[in-house]
Amino acid sequence: MLSSKVTKAVFPVAGFGTRMLPATKSIPKEMLPVVDKPLIQYAVEEAIEAGIEEIIFVTGRNKQAIEDHFDISYELEDSLRKRGKNEALQQVTEFLQEPGRIKYVRQMRPLGLGHAVLCAKDLIGDEPFAIMSTDDLMMYNGQEPCIKQLINAHDDTGGNIVAVMDVPLEQTKRYGILDTPNQDADLPIIEGLVEKPNPEDAPSTLSITGRYVLLPEVFDWLEKQSADKSGEIQLTDAMANMIGRHPFHGLRYKATYFDCGNKLGWLEANIAFAAIDQQMSPDVQSLLKKYAR
Ligand code: G1P
Repeated sequence: MLSSKVTKAVFPVAGFGTRMLPATKSIPKEMLPVVDKPLIQYAVEEAIEAGIEEIIFVTGRNKQAIEDHFDISYELEDSLRKRGKNEALQQVTEFLQEPGRIKYVRQMRPLGLGHAVLCAKDLIGDEPFAIMSTDDLMMYNGQEPCIKQLINAHDDTGGNIVAVMDVPLEQTKRYGILDTPNQDADLPIIEGLVEKPNPEDAPSTLSITGRYVLLPEVFDWLEKQSADKSGEIQLTDAMANMIGRHPFHGLRYKATYFDCGNKLGWLEANIAFAAIDQQMSPDVQSLLKKYAR
């Protein structure tokens, strides 16, 4: 029987990060820091806080730094311990997970987000699951973690749920876009999905922002799916096949979204996260004044 509890999250982390070159030439884009933590740590902490029990990284070549980050760093910990640097020791160990809780599967070819998700099929099995993009950073201070908000909505509606927000019309070609009869609702009904349409073809300005709770049926569609003209198997196209077969909603979540897959979004995230850090905030305000023109 299909279990309805969402306990697993897939993190597609095999991408090249071409919009952040040259920084991402030898460093995985998921390891870029926002203030003092790599992007991937924010997403994993969001998942764990939301009650996710299994983290599945769909990784690729040259991404070893991710595995190392979630492993013990023996020499570093030993050195910090001997020097009594307890706070630093806590910072490098507090996010480590129990053995077996993080699993890795390789996406051997860069065939897109849909293909990355398909690589996790055997680790998911027959249950609804979460997908979390580490480029899409959520600041949910005082609210439930963004992915938890999706899981709660899924508990009510069943079916598929994607995180959505309005974007300026000229940005529709960066996102999966909803066709919906009730764009302003908190849980807009999805009647169509278009991957990265030009503004003139976009059915709305409501876009998917990197958090999903999907039924395992998506794997059947992904397996049948052929690559689009850019050579990628799109998750959006596979999801579109499930419209009308199951409830399918967007969720206008309560969190601030940062697109850290591009330079400006990443810079803004750094400013925003530093500005809410009690220790850094006063200095950040002076810095902002210094460079404001
Ligand atoms: C992917 C999806 C797109 C979604 C976006 C959210 O695009 O294909 O539908 O809106 O993530 O970040 P990517 O950013 O990987 O190009």
